[in-house]
Amino acid sequence: KTMLCVLDHSSGRFEEAVRVTVTSLPVPMFSRNTISVWSILKKCIGLELSKITMPIVFNEPLSFLQRITEYMEHIYLINRACSLPDSIERMKAVAAFAVSAVASQWDRTGKPFNPLLGETYELTREEHGFRLVSEQVSHHPPISAFHAESLVGDFVFHGSIYPKLKFWGKSVEAEPKGTITLELLKHNEAYTWSNPYCCVHNIILGKLWIEQYGTVEIVNHSTGDKCVLNFKPCGMFGKELHKVEGYIQDKSKKKCCIIYGKWTECMWSVDPQSYEAHKKSEKKGENRKQKQEEQKAGQNDDADDMPEVQETVCVVPGSTLLWRIDSRPAHSATMYNFTNFAMSLNELEPGMEAILAPTDCRFRPDIRAMENGRMDDASREKERLEEKQRAARKDRSKSDKEWSTRWFGNGTNPYTGLQDWLYTGGYFDRHYQDLPDIY
Ligand SMILES: *[C@@H]1O[C@H](CO)[C@@H](O)[C@H](O)[C@H]1NC(C)=O
Ligand SMILES: *[C@@H]1O[C@H](CO)[C@@H](O)[C@H](O)[C@H]1NC(C)=O
Ligand SMILES: *[C@@H]1O[C@H](CO)[C@@H](O)[C@H](O)[C@H]1NC(C)=O
Repeated sequence: KTMLCVLDHSSGRFEEAVRVTVTSLPVPMFSRNTISVWSILKKCIGLELSKITMPIVFNEPLSFLQRITEYMEHIYLINRACSLPDSIERMKAVAAFAVSAVASQWDRTGKPFNPLLGETYELTREEHGFRLVSEQVSHHPPISAFHAESLVGDFVFHGSIYPKLKFWGKSVEAEPKGTITLELLKHNEAYTWSNPYCCVHNIILGKLWIEQYGTVEIVNHSTGDKCVLNFKPCGMFGKELHKVEGYIQDKSKKKCCIIYGKWTECMWSVDPQSYEAHKKSEKKGENRKQKQEEQKAGQNDDADDMPEVQETVCVVPGSTLLWRIDSRPAHSATMYNFTNFAMSLNELEPGMEAILAPTDCRFRPDIRAMENGRMDDASREKERLEEKQRAARKDRSKSDKEWSTRWFGNGTNPYTGLQDWLYTGGYFDRHYQDLPDIY
């Protein structure tokens, strides 16, 4: 049992309610084995990916707004960063948080539901000391904005995310557009970064699997110091599968710490000297083996299977553990590979109905139907909601009325100078008049 903080509507005060943490969905997922993605895509080659309607069986019963809320799963790392007096130690905790934030993607090949324009999601977790609100602020291109804050004023964490999808024949790649900002208020520090690329392999043939790659740069805007994290592409033999490696550099661009690990497992930090020494001794044995393997490899049209080489992270002597992933619940495999945290995101806890905004994802009938295993209802409802959204857009264009976002405004990120959607406040006052009827 954990405590949930519920804002009482009339008194405007927080009240404590006892909540049983949900660690399971109502029913296991529907099997996808009977449907060929190829038969669908064959008809669609050349179409823009966002225009293709995939059967709902390839979804997972969460909205993308709920999916991005999973950044908060390892919130203890932000709380740790807030409490550390040394700035390099803080950067380490922030780096671990940035990696942990994308760890829930591991083996999650289900596609989250596209949020409807104006859809919102809130999550208050008193026991973890934060509350979050998000809103779908644009439909074309899809943009989701979120804002999380510490309940005791330690931090603000916000961003706007607009993944750009590219269809590469055998895979779909999501480019992580948008900036993520973390402000540690007591330290007067702001950090910004963008997520790595995410690729789903074998969308046509073979087994689906997920790879994340690219460089994530976490910049401390008070000084311009940064942490560079390289999410490695898995490469031909899978040696680098899931690996993340990087460093923190100080003002004089001197590397003061190496950070390494796997985004699916754990992250460590160690001093650069120990790391280099360890690398050198490792390399000697490897060169010969790799040459032999390269000669055997060739190109083909088969499925790109996930490489099997999966030795766990090799710990360099003298390293400190920064973060380790929690194991998933036993029934996760039959429930979209959800983490415990994800299992609870769509739960309508007692008392919530009265205080959530009517635009909250938890009220989406298609997601709810899918969660309960009613796939036909889910499909029908999804179509109905999308049709309703199209009709509303048509009406607006006739009347020259522009859509206006409710809780976020189009602005400029004060640290990067880039366009960003910023929280305009007021959501938790719970005055929900004039919210659009989107369901
Ligand atoms: C869950 O993970 C397993 C094991 O890696 C994988 O075979 C399966 O396809 C995944 N399921 C989903 C829905 O992503
Ligand atoms: C970030 O900026 C603050 C404020 O100038 C500075 O004190 C701190 O050393 C920097 N932190 C890191 C990790 O570079
Ligand atoms: C937001 O503002 C930028 C310029 O600051 C503009 O280019 C962009 O079109 C705006 N987006 C929306 C949805 O209003």
